Formats: sequence, structure tokens, C-alpha cells
Amino acid sequence: MKKWTMFLCIGLLAITSVLTACRSAATPESAELRPSATSPVAGDTPPTASPPTATPTPIPSPTLTPQPTLLPPAVPLDRIAQGQRLGRGVNLGNALEAPTEGEWGMVLQEEYFRLIAEAGFDTIRVPIRWSTHALEEPPYTVDESFFQRVDWVIENGLANGLNVVINMHHYEEIFETPGAHTERFIAIWQQIATRYKDKPDNVYFEPLNEPHGGLTQDKWRRLLDDTILAIRRIDNRHTLIVTGADWGGYRALANLRLPEGEENYVCTFHFYDPMLFTHQGASWSGPGYQTLGVTWPGPPATPVAIDPEAAKVGWVLTWFRQYNTLATESNPAGYKMIRDAFDAAAKVGEKLDCVLWLGEFGAFEKADMQSRVNWTTFVRETAEAHGMPWAYWEFGSGFGVYDRQAGQWHEALLRALIPEPSVD
Ligand code: BGC
Repeated sequence: MKKWTMFLCIGLLAITSVLTACRSAATPESAELRPSATSPVAGDTPPTASPPTATPTPIPSPTLTPQPTLLPPAVPLDRIAQGQRLGRGVNLGNALEAPTEGEWGMVLQEEYFRLIAEAGFDTIRVPIRWSTHALEEPPYTVDESFFQRVDWVIENGLANGLNVVINMHHYEEIFETPGAHTERFIAIWQQIATRYKDKPDNVYFEPLNEPHGGLTQDKWRRLLDDTILAIRRIDNRHTLIVTGADWGGYRALANLRLPEGEENYVCTFHFYDPMLFTHQGASWSGPGYQTLGVTWPGPPATPVAIDPEAAKVGWVLTWFRQYNTLATESNPAGYKMIRDAFDAAAKVGEKLDCVLWLGEFGAFEKADMQSRVNWTTFVRETAEAHGMPWAYWEFGSGFGVYDRQAGQWHEALLRALIPEPSVD
């Protein structure tokens, strides 16, 4: 067997077991279920279940020893204004959160920042997998060349007048054994804070994308607490973007507690419901999600024939029965379920007294374009009706609003997001 064929087989086996574990652990009916974020793939790029670990060049590292006291408060930023400032955004997905940039077919180009700004977006969210670019052992030094790449992204974003959200994405090991990775996670954040503490106020730090798995609510709360305290000993100015456990849905957000005295934060949640529409045919979503032809809103003109493998999953079967038959108002792929979800999310925002940033939403390319446009328009309008800023998932890959091959925007999808063409 050729070497690459063997790797592919091992990868597929590993993915299958990850997906099986995810599905059995989650409540599938949950409107917030994320099937797995372990192997996001653009278009037809095969998922890599065992990302190669980069061997970063050891370099001198910043002092990571936590200081005993917090810094004195900086001129406080108004957290509501900082949240609203995020406005309309887009995720630069599948680039820096791939195990190495380019592995998922996306390498960031300078012109993307200009295109994004000219189209009328205010913000870029930059998903970043720091964990494959840092030493495994203390002091967990982040590879300098990787840091320089992130510097370049931030500079290009800022130079084009965009707000920049830096996050921690796909730290897969911390979802499996949180205890074993806490120190490394915090040490990486200390380095990020040290490096970017003097950046303008429109650079934001988002400690972790979609906490889940072993990072239960309690464990995540404690880790977030420790991380915020560690960041605040270095950088007391930048706004933090915080989320709940359970894949970053709004329900878990309700249980979030922040360290005493922390005022400078925005809350975030992700929305992909109904998953059987937005993630149809996505290779990383598992057999339950492989029925194609799911349109939005439901019901379809002709009932959709459920994929035989998907039909073995009880809740999927029930969902399709309803989708195929119920009138739009009560259809699981209807307007009401989205309206209800956003009403509930808004209540969580009120309770926490924070701006709720819809940090990800999008529909994968296997859905038909008109349905993607319908869904994206409705979700975006619903978020805006609640005064929520948002960031679409994502710029130029499988969910992409920009067609990199054609070198042009998917015009209808862009208009679903930014209805008024930019005038300058
Ligand atoms: C994950 C991506 C995935 C997207 C849609 C993101 O949070 O990180 O990998 O493609 O959600 O599923």
C-alpha cells in the first residue's frame, strides 16, 4: 500500500471513531448540535484526522511566570460599543486553523483584505490553530514564523480598516484531556497577549472556539477564568470575546461566569440550525448528514428521499418526516424555529448584560445556492433585528461567500449579507 493511501485509511478510521463518539455523546435533537468541528474541510479537501505536529524551532520565549497582581485598570473600553463595533464580519476560515496553512486549500492573500473591506464588511474573525505551532513542553513557545504570519494578517486587516478578532481554534487535545493542556493553553495566551497588547482597540481576543467534549461546563468555566486572569496580567485593554461550552451555542452561554471585576467583554454564539440543511453532505458531519437536496425553507416541493444510512439515525428520520410534510410555519426548516432561537439567545444576552456576537453562521456549498441565500438572509436579518453584530462562516472555502476560482463574489450570497452594494 502506498504511504499516502495508508495515511488516508488511518485518517478515515480515526475520523469515523471521532464522529461516532461525538454523535453518541450529544443530544441530536438539540437545535444547537454541532456534529464535529474536528475536521473542517473546504469543498472536497479530505479531512485530516491526525494533523501532523509541526516541529517549531525553539526560540527564546517571553516570561510566562504569572505576576501576582492584576494590572491597574486601563482606560476602560465601553463593552457595548466594542461589541456593536464588530458590525458585519466574515471568518477567514480554513486558512490558519488548518494544521498548517494551505493544507485545507486556503492560503490568505493580501488582496482578500481589500476585497472584504471594499465589499462593506467591518470585521474579520481569524480562526487560528496555535496548538500545532507551539512547543509541546514548557515554555510552550509559539513558533516565531507563525507569529509573524499572524502579525501580517492583523496588519493587513487593520490597514484596510477592519476590526480583527484573533481566536484559538481546533485545539483538539484540550477537548480530550483538558487537565493535561491547561498550562500550555494559558501559556500560549500569555504569549499572544504579550505580542499584541499594544495593538489598537479594534483587535479582539477570543479565548476558544466552540469548547466541547471533555471541556464540560465547569471545566470550561474554570479554564476561561484562569485564562482571563492570565491575559489581564499582561493586557488590560483589549476586549475579550467569550462563549459557553457545548459547541458555543447560546444555551450554554447562559451559564457563563466571568472573573469578578471583568467588564471588557463581548459574548458570542454560533448558529447553524437546522444542521441537516446547513451541513448536508459535509464530509466531517457523519452519515446522518449525508442526505442532499434539503432546501430552505421547508417543506420541499417534492419530498426529499432520505439517504439510507441517514435513515438509520432515529432523530434524523423524524426530522425528515416533519420537514417533508409540515407547513412552513411549523416546519423544522422554517422561519419560526430561527426566530424562536434568536429570541431565546437575546434573553441570554440581556441576562449577561453583554452584546451577543453571532461569530459563525453559514450553509455549506452542497445545499443549492437559492436556499443558502434564503437562509443566510433570514438569519442575518434576524440577528440584526436583535441588534446583534455577526460574522459569516466563511470567506472563500466550502461555505464561502467569495469564489476564489472565479475571482469574484457569489453575488447573491454577498447581497444576503450586505444588501447595499458598497458605493466607494
Ligand atoms: C469549525 C469549522 C467548520 C464550521 C462549520 C467551525 O466552527 O471550526 O471547522 O467548518 O464550524 O461546521
